[in-house]
Amino acid sequence: MPPSFWPFGRSKDAEPEQSLIQKIDPHRIPQHVAIIMDGNGRWAKRRGLPRVAGHRAGVQSLRRVLETCEEFGIRYLTVYAFSTENWKRPADEVNALFDLLVEYLQRELDTLHDKGVQIRAIGKVSELPENPRKELERAVRHTANNDKLILNVALNYGGRIEIVEAVKAIARQARDGQIDPERIDEAFLNRHLYTADVPDPDLLIRPSGELRLSNFLLWQSAYTEIWVTPTLWPDFGRKEMIQALVDYQGRDRRFGGVKV
Ligand code: IPE
Ligand code: IPE
Ligand code: MG
Repeated sequence: MPPSFWPFGRSKDAEPEQSLIQKIDPHRIPQHVAIIMDGNGRWAKRRGLPRVAGHRAGVQSLRRVLETCEEFGIRYLTVYAFSTENWKRPADEVNALFDLLVEYLQRELDTLHDKGVQIRAIGKVSELPENPRKELERAVRHTANNDKLILNVALNYGGRIEIVEAVKAIARQARDGQIDPERIDEAFLNRHLYTADVPDPDLLIRPSGELRLSNFLLWQSAYTEIWVTPTLWPDFGRKEMIQALVDYQGRDRRFGGVKV
């Protein structure tokens, strides 16, 4: 249950899906939605199942949400699948997560490709175990020319290390006399992030009620609208996504300015 001060959205069953859909303004669909796919472990625990069963159920949610994004014309979907801190988990769980990734890519690649989905990865992908890394590279290559929806999978991703890596790359260029440090600005640093050619997320969704970013898109989410729901990721579906879109469209994005 959400805490009593819960400031986000309405409760899950407050409004039927059909009436929610009618509230969506097709001209103000967020261009980029980011999701922290959290709560798989709790979902499994509540059912007396091993954590990996929760991760498996979470894959189904990704499929549903991707379909909903296609339906509403969302251009970029970034999903947090494995953080740089998730290596702290037991090896069995980490291995199971990568096995699921391989299984997902092998099973879904053709369907995703047919739908015009372009798969990309952000994070220290080079440090992933060989099997998931190769499968991911294959999926990225295979879908590289698609442009209907960009599915950005954050794997071995950390917002801080992303910024550190950008700073290192820029420092090298300065050391070698290729750039003048005075000319470094926000756009320049942005071009050195994993998300260089992706617009900042408009909407960031966190299921399972946690009120934190957990090192996700720290730079990019400076002015992102955050939407949190107590629903656990394996229970998250079309309805939750629609509710998030409706609430997003009700927000007043000021970017530090004032309303005229
Ligand atoms: C998110 O679910 C999946 C990953 C972090 C890979 P969790 O496994 O974190 O689920 P909870 O937070 O323990 O419920
Ligand atoms: C964030 O969830 C990472 C992913 C969903 C991949 P965590 O479960 O790892 O985050 P914390 O530990 O609750 O902050
Ligand atoms: Mg978690």
